[in-house]
Amino acid sequence: MQNLFSTYKIKNLELKNRVVMPPMCQYSVEKKDGIANDWHYLHYVSRAVGGAGFIIVEMTDVEPDGRITDYDLGLWSDEQVPALAKIVEAVHSHGAKIGIQIAHAGRKAEDAAEPVAPSAIPFDENSKTPRALTTEEVKGMVEKFRLAVRRAVQAGFDAIEIHGAHGYLIHQFHSPLTNKRDDEYGQDLTKFGREVIEAAKAEMPADMPLIMRISAKEYVEGGYDIEESIEFSKAYKDAGADVFDISSGGEGQIAAWGRPGTHAAYQVPLARQIKETLQVPVMAVGRLDDPILANAVIGNEEADLVQVGRGMLRNPYWTLEAAKLLRKENIVPKQYEAGF
Ligand SMILES: Cc1cc2nc3c(=O)[nH]c(=O)nc-3n(C[C@H](O)[C@H](O)[C@H](O)COP(=O)(O)O)c2cc1C
Repeated sequence: MQNLFSTYKIKNLELKNRVVMPPMCQYSVEKKDGIANDWHYLHYVSRAVGGAGFIIVEMTDVEPDGRITDYDLGLWSDEQVPALAKIVEAVHSHGAKIGIQIAHAGRKAEDAAEPVAPSAIPFDENSKTPRALTTEEVKGMVEKFRLAVRRAVQAGFDAIEIHGAHGYLIHQFHSPLTNKRDDEYGQDLTKFGREVIEAAKAEMPADMPLIMRISAKEYVEGGYDIEESIEFSKAYKDAGADVFDISSGGEGQIAAWGRPGTHAAYQVPLARQIKETLQVPVMAVGRLDDPILANAVIGNEEADLVQVGRGMLRNPYWTLEAAKLLRKENIVPKQYEAGF
């Protein structure tokens, strides 16, 4: 029987438990140069000390105008590699594995003078109208993803996550609401995402897993639902995605039509459906910070890995406390034993 503290292995990624810290933007690059700083180092390393098996570094963008804000991390330059390599090394020395989320915000790039997107459709009435990428520029964008992944591999990451969720560029390409192109990238809505996955895989060692984060459901009127996301996920799986990270929404305002309450485990049914239908490993996320619930998601085989985001912002030692509550073997570092 699997539980939250069972080991997990996919390809060359061997995790000591099933607890994952999901990518969470820190908007803390004060110098606006995309380079990780002391905040990022402490933020990620403290969750490794706190017992998480796997940590995914926040959305890290492939070009300056791919950032949500100018305070995001980037991997468009070799100068951005050493600070990330330092984080990777420290996280490893505390027994955790670490991946990074590679992304482009597309029309949701708030600080870009002129954001780019598949089509010139703004996010909402308060957003800039993006410029539609030319076909050549879309191909160039695939190359920017490739180079960012190459640098992430150089930095020593154990896995790559591609951000295909939350209304950012890849999501904008595979959603019929935001992709109104009539070229090859509009005739086949998954072509851009598939090419990004293929380019990433070409830069990654064969035994390194690629994780694809998707929004399995849109919450705006006329948006896609689980049936459509199963279809495009199948295309992404065939292109080389090894694990799916199942989130939802982000294409419209939070108060949009049909959005569910964010009650505990609200996205787990979506993760389970993708897992069962496509026979792929999945990571669940969303209000799973009750350890008994997180443990049940693994025990009931609804997901292979569980992510705890806001719960780990509150408490970097979430995993240590969960192990104690669930009466798993003692994983507390000896320096902190008196606290437990
Ligand atoms: C401060 C913050 C920043 C986030 N940044 C990202 C991000 O960079 N990439 C991403 O895919 N999701 C991001 N998310 C979403 C989280 O990864 C996660 O899916 C969400 O918080 C739900 O999980 P939770 O209920 O455990 O917090 C962010 C969430 C928060 C709270």
